Amino acid sequence: MAFDHKHLIDIREYSEEDITLLLDTAERFKAINERRIKKVPVLKGFTVVNMFNEPSTRTRSSFEIAEKRLSCDTLNFGGSSTSTVKGESLDDTVETLCAYKIDMIVVRDKHAGVPYKVAQKSGVSVIDAGDGKHQHPTQALLDLYTIREEKGRIRGLRVGIVGDIGHSRVCGSLVPALKTMGAHVTLIAPQTLMPPVPEALGADAVTSNLDEALPELDVVYMLRIQQERLEGAPFPSLREYSMLFGLNERRDKLMRPDAIVCHPGPINRGVELDAFMADHPTRSVILDQVYAGVLVRMAALYLLLGGGEDGFAA
Ligand code: CP
Repeated sequence: MAFDHKHLIDIREYSEEDITLLLDTAERFKAINERRIKKVPVLKGFTVVNMFNEPSTRTRSSFEIAEKRLSCDTLNFGGSSTSTVKGESLDDTVETLCAYKIDMIVVRDKHAGVPYKVAQKSGVSVIDAGDGKHQHPTQALLDLYTIREEKGRIRGLRVGIVGDIGHSRVCGSLVPALKTMGAHVTLIAPQTLMPPVPEALGADAVTSNLDEALPELDVVYMLRIQQERLEGAPFPSLREYSMLFGLNERRDKLMRPDAIVCHPGPINRGVELDAFMADHPTRSVILDQVYAGVLVRMAALYLLLGGGEDGFAA
């Protein structure tokens, strides 16, 4: 199947066929990641810049591992160690990096829309690694990969996304991606953490009653409370939030026996999930999501850069 995307910035531009190809390619890379020598030369000679202007553990480390396993040359760049702190503009920074004849920029930024600006200025492929409250498309892909691995399908599954929906770039990509793949999506949050028009995200249902929604769900996707983005006081206390919207041993009993629990990380332990649920041996797939991050990022790099088949299985 042809893959004719240059960028991965807005998951809504990806069809069911595109997403399936990405997930299938990630699955091919799984075999490589389970070998003793976890490296293939498919992107040898390509140079990727990881421009992270906002903190990250999972996304940044998994992109770097994915690039190294595909034999890319990588440059890690961004934050307070760059000349942006001396006043250099984003445009000038991007032009400077492009003077090195790079092939791709992976961008994380606290401002929504920065990946588009970088794509326009640079002319090279851009992957959005999370921009403000807008999108986080590779997170959605790793979530889909994990769900498909666990459940054997995505179409027809009932997925509940719980928590800080209004501030969530994860939700900005995950809801449209789940809908493209045929899942039924319910948004579950207090009114104060919903976007002004939650229906605009494209979900099938919206509720503030977690206990009522839980028994129906195949996948319970918990979002992090984004304390760095909260304005005002959307709930009286973290304790009260946790009582009404956190997953714990009591709520475990309300869930389907085969329901799984996802979280994009980082977890606020004791807020979205208590230790019982975060570390639950059969329900929690949080570390599977982390592993899938390497696989889908390898797939995205490979497909966007048009890597060759030569050496895929080397
Ligand atoms: N899920 C996610 O984006 O985590 P990081 O902020 O650690 O990259």
